[in-house]
Amino acid sequence: MRTQVAIIGAGPAGLLLGQLLHNQGIEAVILERRSADYVLGRIRAGVLESGTVELLARAGCDDRLRQEGLPHGGINLCFGGRRHRIDLAALTGGKHVTVYGQTEMTRDLMEARSACGAKTVYEAAGVHLEGFQGTRPVVHYLKDGIAQTLECEFIAGCDGYYGVSRQSVPERAIETFERIYPFGWLGLLADVPPVNDELIYVNHAKGFALCSMRSNTRSRYYLQCPAEEKAETWSDDQFWDELRGRLDPEAAERLTTGPSLEKSVARLRSFVAEPLRFGRLFLAGDAAHIVPPTGAKGLNLAASDIRYLSEALIEYFSGGSTAGLDAYSSRALARIWKAERFSWWMTSMLHRFPEVGPFGHRIQLAELEYLVSSEAASASLAENYVGLPY
Ligand code: FAD
Ligand code: PHB
Repeated sequence: MRTQVAIIGAGPAGLLLGQLLHNQGIEAVILERRSADYVLGRIRAGVLESGTVELLARAGCDDRLRQEGLPHGGINLCFGGRRHRIDLAALTGGKHVTVYGQTEMTRDLMEARSACGAKTVYEAAGVHLEGFQGTRPVVHYLKDGIAQTLECEFIAGCDGYYGVSRQSVPERAIETFERIYPFGWLGLLADVPPVNDELIYVNHAKGFALCSMRSNTRSRYYLQCPAEEKAETWSDDQFWDELRGRLDPEAAERLTTGPSLEKSVARLRSFVAEPLRFGRLFLAGDAAHIVPPTGAKGLNLAASDIRYLSEALIEYFSGGSTAGLDAYSSRALARIWKAERFSWWMTSMLHRFPEVGPFGHRIQLAELEYLVSSEAASASLAENYVGLPY
């Protein structure tokens, strides 16, 4: 088989790239290790920046998002038992974020891809990249136990943190930067109305909590937990009791509980690989970087990488210029590091760190007090939360 761009991974990054290229008449084949149902079953991010929404519109995949996505013009910070609102819209000249699940965005992109007849190979095993330092890259894989070969002009490594693309690069050619946090998030999804019409980020002596949602009838809640925690050891009742205990009295009173649809633990990590280009292989999304979810940036950063990469590939295939491809790594990394900083800062301010003790906790409270009382400080948070310019 031969194609113009081989895309490894059918997460949001790979699917979005595939659609943007298809709309410009560029052919791509996506190779995905898992089944489509497995990919759709992963409950992950829920907050989209306006730049991500614009990119989905460019991909022609924003119909349902426009109908069902919930625009949010503010978020709430809860500490010392009290809630404070950050007015994102007022602080950013009218900008907002959109609450729309990653699962839904993935479903819309998958449906658009199958409607236009573009090829995705699900359950592609043993993906192996070759020749990307030369002019004729080849991807080998197994489908139903039979060896297959995909020749291409470029490879887009959109296969997440554990994918094969970054691992195919010789160690001496890549530098990585990492921080692993000493805790995780226990997430619960339930068909109950959200406790609040906007997100609440909670700093509490017993640990961070987050109240989020997927719709007006489906809630997503998180609790800071030990990094090694197993979701199965938590009953739904234990989760609800712990969450209630971390909320302010009014929210605690209003919390509606119900059976969980899903519970899982995500570990928190900051990670960046540099550079993002190795000859004809480009890394994008979680394959290149990870942020702790506290700033709601992971999915949005995958989208901004794809915007730069899709524009560069379109420029190349429409006229042969390599300027965009040459600039991809430095352009994307400049935005990535700013989102890394914001996500690290939000994480540091809101979580309980075992090693910092009472002094560290007082500093967090002072920072939060400053944040909600200074317009300059609130505006800085708001500007980053709605998404820095591309
Ligand atoms: P992925 O979504 O990881 O997609 C990569 C795809 O590549 C996967 O489908 C994978 O199966 C496939 N793949 C991997 N290896 C291979 C291979 N060898 N061959 C072929 N295919 C392969 N962000 C937030 O903003 N908020 C959150 O609450 C949040 N929660 C998260 C919870 C978890 C458990 C994880 C892992 C991430 C979470 N994120 C969250 C981050 C966000 O979901 C990611 O940033 C986003 O999914 C990145 O998209 P991606 O397409 O780059 O990678
Ligand atoms: C979510 O809804 O899953 C979510 C929202 C905001 C975050 C992280 C996760 O910062």
